Amino acid sequence: MIIRNIIIFCVFVVNSNSCNLKFPEGFQFGVASSAYQVEGAYKEDGKGLSIWDEITHQNPLLFGFANGDVTSDSYHHLKDDVALLKNLGVDYYRFSLSWSRILPQGTTNVINQKGIDYYNDLINELLANNIQPLVTLFHWDTPLSFKEGGGFYSESIINYFYDYANLAFSIFGDRVKTWTTFNEPKSFCQEDPDGFLGSDPSLGWLDYTCAHNLLRAHSQVYHLYNNTYKPKHNGIIGPVYNLEWDEPASNKTADLEAAERRRQFDFGWYFNPLVFGDYPEIMKTQIANYSKAQNLSRSRLPEFTDEEKNQIKGTFDYIGLNHYSAWLIKDGDGVINVANPSFTNDYNAEMFKDPSWPGSSASWLKVAPLMFRKELKWIKDTYNNPLIFVTENGYADDGELIDTKRINYIKLYLTELLKAIHFDKVNVQRYTHWSLMDSFEWNNGFRTRFGLHHINFLDPKRTRTPKFSSKYYKSIIWTRKVPF
Ligand code: NOJ
Repeated sequence: MIIRNIIIFCVFVVNSNSCNLKFPEGFQFGVASSAYQVEGAYKEDGKGLSIWDEITHQNPLLFGFANGDVTSDSYHHLKDDVALLKNLGVDYYRFSLSWSRILPQGTTNVINQKGIDYYNDLINELLANNIQPLVTLFHWDTPLSFKEGGGFYSESIINYFYDYANLAFSIFGDRVKTWTTFNEPKSFCQEDPDGFLGSDPSLGWLDYTCAHNLLRAHSQVYHLYNNTYKPKHNGIIGPVYNLEWDEPASNKTADLEAAERRRQFDFGWYFNPLVFGDYPEIMKTQIANYSKAQNLSRSRLPEFTDEEKNQIKGTFDYIGLNHYSAWLIKDGDGVINVANPSFTNDYNAEMFKDPSWPGSSASWLKVAPLMFRKELKWIKDTYNNPLIFVTENGYADDGELIDTKRINYIKLYLTELLKAIHFDKVNVQRYTHWSLMDSFEWNNGFRTRFGLHHINFLDPKRTRTPKFSSKYYKSIIWTRKVPF
């Protein structure tokens, strides 16, 4: 009876073929975390502070008194975490380095050997358990020492990032074969670039400046790795970008155009330069026109020099994609806010969620799995079929151990991923679930949980307890199929 129902489900509800789909030979599975969100030990063993140490300490109410001081305490649970990974059977672990743990002042003037030891131990423990490290150089925790100089608003950070990356490659490069420069630069630049919480980072100047500096830093570090380290270590390097799919709210041409415009202002802003050498045309035109209407002498969107265009083009071995949800997009009213330019005004569209999409504990995360497949296909078609690693995907709840909603999310999203691989021939070779365990979820503190393992943040031992979803994910890794 049960088997008959499954067959009926496969044939009529899902799609005649998708129940039999398998992840191809060589496809890899992983889980992810980031330094500030899991490590804790925020001022231990010589670590310098980051902007996030300051933001959370200065605004405790805003974060419900949550912060990264201890959080999941991974700094002291290195072996426990690797045991969790081993038990899941993942091929790799995606984690980030804390820049200020390695370089307490951000610059190479002072190098903190204990910080280096910690990452060496982690990498070695992973490899001893046959788990590859996938290392992100920057996951938002800018060393606090750069705040005064403007952080990523200032181009001086480009050289400092270069020096930090060089050090990381030289120390860990013999064992780390997949590197990421920046995680979700758009979220970083738009939401809270350098700890200037309270000021308005969405002004239509600063976020473009931050993105511009960050793209130049990315391209320089790509070339550094490519020329100096790749020949020796044979690894790969790319960025991690996020895109919540922009779906037109209707079939009206204006809404179709608005959705594509929004994708270009969102993903294209960062990926177009890497694939084609410059910002998307629609961004250049729209921002230049709006800037003119504001009587500005130049466009608020900075320009790359010809040399920079050549240097930035082609600087990725893979594109890391973080995807969780989607938006519905309607054309905007086109009114230019002359007095108060903003990124939102520049792309001129309205964004909202379809009320039929099931929710989660995070207001922005609604479950819309079909959009995942659309997005993958769009990236393939728009950017010449790049190699894609899904570097994050996951579901937010309140921390339940029997997390059936997360299981359902994984089932639906991975089914769409399988369809994208098999039917649309999108070149996706890795899938990374966010996250290994509950952790500090930025502005949502500890209220919103993404982990496959539960942590009680009041328990000094920070015991990790597997949720039901961890077993489900494990079964996918073992069978290479999505169980129904
Ligand atoms: C993206 C970020 O990279 C990660 O730090 C965050 O926790 C997840 N999305 C979930 O919001």
